[in-house]
Amino acid sequence: MRATLPPLINALCILASLPTASTAPVKPRDGLQVRLSVADGLIANPVDGRVVLMFAPPGVNPLDNWDVVDTPDALYGKNVYHMRTQKPVTLAGGSARNTDRGVWGFPNTTLDQVPAGLYSVQAFVNIYQTVTRSDGSVVKVDFPCGDGAPSVDGYGSLKTPVTNVSISSGPQILDLMFSAIEPYPQLNGTEIGGCNQGNYADTQYLKHVKIRSTALSEFWGLDMFVGANVLLPHGYVNGTTRYPVIYHQNHWDEGNGAYYYGTDLDFTRQWQTGVIPGANNRSSGRPTPKFIIVQFRHEAPFYDDSYAVNNANLGPYGDAINEELIPYIDQTFRTIRQPYARVQDGGSTGGWVSAASLIFRPDLMGVCFSSYPDSLDFNSSLPGTALKDFWQPSSKRTIGNSPSELHREVGFSGRRLDKTVLCGKRLLIVCLSARRDVWNAVFGVQGFNNYPLEPWDKVTGVIYPGAVEYWRHMDLSHYITDNWDNDLNLGAVLRNRIFIYVGTADNYYLNLGVEQFEANVNGRGGPGWANVTILPNEEHGGNYQLRDTWNYLQLVSDWVRDHAPNGATPLTAAQTAPSARGNRWEDVLAYGGHSAAVARQADPEVSSGDSCKPGSTISASPGRWDPGMSLSAMWMINSRQRGREFAVYEDESVSFEVPSKANTVELVVTGKKRGYTTETRHSNKVEVKA
Ligand SMILES: *[C@@H]1O[C@H](CO)[C@@H](O)[C@H](O)[C@H]1NC(C)=O
Ligand SMILES: *[C@@H]1O[C@H](CO)[C@@H](O)[C@H](O)[C@H]1NC(C)=O
Ligand SMILES: *[C@@H]1O[C@H](CO)[C@@H](O)[C@H](O)[C@H]1NC(C)=O
Ligand SMILES: *[C@@H]1O[C@H](CO)[C@@H](O)[C@H](O)[C@H]1NC(C)=O
Ligand SMILES: *[C@@H]1O[C@H](CO)[C@@H](O)[C@H](O)[C@H]1NC(C)=O
Ligand SMILES: *[C@@H]1O[C@H](CO)[C@@H](O)[C@H](O)[C@H]1NC(C)=O
Ligand SMILES: *[C@@H]1O[C@H](CO)[C@@H](O)[C@H](O)[C@H]1NC(C)=O
Repeated sequence: MRATLPPLINALCILASLPTASTAPVKPRDGLQVRLSVADGLIANPVDGRVVLMFAPPGVNPLDNWDVVDTPDALYGKNVYHMRTQKPVTLAGGSARNTDRGVWGFPNTTLDQVPAGLYSVQAFVNIYQTVTRSDGSVVKVDFPCGDGAPSVDGYGSLKTPVTNVSISSGPQILDLMFSAIEPYPQLNGTEIGGCNQGNYADTQYLKHVKIRSTALSEFWGLDMFVGANVLLPHGYVNGTTRYPVIYHQNHWDEGNGAYYYGTDLDFTRQWQTGVIPGANNRSSGRPTPKFIIVQFRHEAPFYDDSYAVNNANLGPYGDAINEELIPYIDQTFRTIRQPYARVQDGGSTGGWVSAASLIFRPDLMGVCFSSYPDSLDFNSSLPGTALKDFWQPSSKRTIGNSPSELHREVGFSGRRLDKTVLCGKRLLIVCLSARRDVWNAVFGVQGFNNYPLEPWDKVTGVIYPGAVEYWRHMDLSHYITDNWDNDLNLGAVLRNRIFIYVGTADNYYLNLGVEQFEANVNGRGGPGWANVTILPNEEHGGNYQLRDTWNYLQLVSDWVRDHAPNGATPLTAAQTAPSARGNRWEDVLAYGGHSAAVARQADPEVSSGDSCKPGSTISASPGRWDPGMSLSAMWMINSRQRGREFAVYEDESVSFEVPSKANTVELVVTGKKRGYTTETRHSNKVEVKA
């Protein structure tokens, strides 16, 4: 359904020697400057967004050259504000110091490091929309449009033509013009929600539903939708039978069902025959297991899917899906509306989402079969230099700069730059349209700047243990053991309902999180409390336990049969008690929303109260700030700076000897952090009295 790239249009590519009258002057400087203008009439109003400028080998479409590791080519990013036709934006230089307003590149920081040579070049602007959420936080984000939120070329992005350029090693000005908009999908005027979550035509077996979510619309202050692709079993049409449901968690699916169990549409075709096909010799010719298979469509501002849980950055997606969309599906299709007949499954992101969907909602769901999930235990999610140090506050270790630390195959490449860390922290900043930050968004809380609170610095890799602490409520391993025998009673409730599979050669090292999860929960509940399968030498991918699709579906079918009210081991009322429900929206928002971010802050404070004596030594705290702020302080005597500004740390107390001629003393602290407006805070003003 994605629109293909249109043919090249009027490349406007002029080297420094050929300035044009239509463009604003650019100051001469060493190295490459890229002047980006917007064609007349292309946009009605000024836009905010993220420019991504891509260099690829000649003859190669830069969009098809997104190799995150060993590309010899280059990517540069820069935020733009109020971009408009009359006001070209110039990209030049590049610095780690100002990645909010300045240029930041990959693999090299500055544009001056693009090696001389011939390139195929293209630039995009991802347009940001400014939104005020119901908790008062204002963010600029990029809402996807039924397209699964691709990295840079989403619907509505401005783009230049792909242009051949020659880069010299001296001073050079390259002019590029945004002359087209990535076209929006064709709508026929009857669809709800415009392009929000896509609009797809039904077939006999594959139905598409979409609803406006009250919960999400309230949070975002915009009409927000969630949808689902619903695959019906053979015999459904004109029948009366009710069926169990598999909620198959996956990335964005364009609506054609390609992301069910086959890698292509073969599965859907075989499914429709109702007979297991001949290729499978064990069960070929037998009837297919019968389910309704649901894949949600929930692309969100930070990624192609929301992770289907309530979180303070994306909003109540868990409730939108579980409390609004699932009831709608239950009304619309002949589902069995009981937990034992609701199965969660999926791999990778879908592995985490399916596990979380059961673990947070054992009152609604029956079981999960989760394969190679995103880290189930943040204490050991990555090897060596990475996240496992998060829980150790003394850690001075950093996240590495190389994506190879995050992926076993250095040659890995992909057009779509996916999750936060897969992108590599340097590369991530290049393509930092807001949606790139999904792990920080889902697992963490809002920062005081309204964006996801970062657990590490994307340039230096320095970890902020204070921010990491806020991930704990989404660390499924510790969530379970933290709520083992309290009101949620998860030790009893979830026993025998969690099935996890991973291979020891998982390409993203996700086996480490599974191993830690197993040690933690089965350490508490005994062997087999959660059924964890770790297969030697297997990589990321495939069905649960690498079973053939039909064999896997039979396993699921047997589980449902056994846990039905008349089955061998029915799910009990205690196992599906409403009291076991977690991830409640009001708690999530109170913990991680804007009010919580404000409540985390405190002004500096001089501890001697309202007054002090000349010559006495007073002490002060720099106040409370978001993790990762770099703080500098100065003492003010009679409202004038006294002495030099000095670095302080949040947990540090600073002291000062009060001069004899002072009337008042105060401490002024300035905090700086990437993504934050620099802010200065004043302590209480203490009077000096002899
Ligand atoms: C760009 O260069 C490639 C390879 O050198 C060539 O095939 C292509 O036709 C050129 N495109 C344009 C628009 O000149
Ligand atoms: C640019 O990055 C590449 C890959 O990391 C490196 O080999 C090269 O030396 C860098 N170039 C400059 C000019 O720094
Ligand atoms: C277009 O409109 C018809 C109703 O006239 C609707 O059934 C259909 O699903 C719509 N969308 C598409 C993509 O065809
Ligand atoms: C369902 O019933 C309708 C009306 O009787 C009929 O036209 C249609 O062919 C039936 N479909 C199937 C798959 O049996
Ligand atoms: C069953 O079929 C698979 C391929 O579909 C084949 O690899 C395997 O050898 C067959 N097994 C038997 C026992 O025929
Ligand atoms: C994480 O692992 C470290 C060492 O392996 C351990 O000291 C720490 O308690 C663990 N933290 C949690 C939350 O399990
Ligand atoms: C774990 O589940 C598999 C099915 O996935 C089953 O074959 C196996 O017996 C289970 N293991 C335990 C210890 O229950």
